[in-house]
Amino acid sequence: MLSNEPASAQSDRRVPLPEPDRAGTMSLERALDQRRSVRTYGEEPLTLKEVSQLLWAAQGITHPNGYRTAPSAGALYPLDLYLTGGRVTDLPDGVYRYHPRDHVLIRTEREDRRRALAAAALDQSWVREGAVVIAIAGVYERTTRKYGDRGVRYTHIEVGHAAQNIYLQAEALDLGTVLVGAFSDGKVREVLGLSDRERPLALLPVGPVRP
Ligand SMILES: Cc1cc2nc3c(=O)[nH]c(=O)nc-3n(C[C@H](O)[C@H](O)[C@H](O)COP(=O)(O)O)c2cc1C
Repeated sequence: MLSNEPASAQSDRRVPLPEPDRAGTMSLERALDQRRSVRTYGEEPLTLKEVSQLLWAAQGITHPNGYRTAPSAGALYPLDLYLTGGRVTDLPDGVYRYHPRDHVLIRTEREDRRRALAAAALDQSWVREGAVVIAIAGVYERTTRKYGDRGVRYTHIEVGHAAQNIYLQAEALDLGTVLVGAFSDGKVREVLGLSDRERPLALLPVGPVRP
């Protein structure tokens, strides 16, 4: 749909993300050892660089053939990532979709929807208190087309991969997150403006770890 729009309308809403850091300083073992679900956050905003790093960790492209940080059944990539916020330096409030190929965000709504997302998630306060919320949606058809019903299972497995990557990357950046699975699918879909094919499967608020 986006590709049918005039280029100017798209460029208005397009936010190129800083190059991800591919070296870092925290060892994988330390990130694994220290990772915890974090539900209270400091007030400071995230930087666009941190947002870039989190999205890259979840679904960034790391190979000329389009392979990503997380494995995917048949390399069919059924997951879409959305971000809403909030508190990010150099990023206007809104809802954004992450486009791994170009490593950009495209704004789909102008409003910060964290509060509405929290309401859709049994009012779990951490969903509105994170600096941003990353939502993972799955389009089963991308995978069931090849694998039949089993593609649904594969999509769910892939959410786990992407979410754990976000957890570990957050840990390495001194940020905290928690995977929230308890929410109304219909309400989250409405709040984020998802298409009929996109099923919301996980919400991850992210914010600075409170000292
Ligand atoms: C599939 C799944 C759904 C979850 N849903 C929620 C949730 O809705 N709200 C919440 O606060 N935590 C949720 N969690 C986080 C767990 O409560 C947490 O991982 C668990 O208490 C273990 O703590 P740890 O992650 O710090 O090791 C969920 C975790 C998973 C894997």
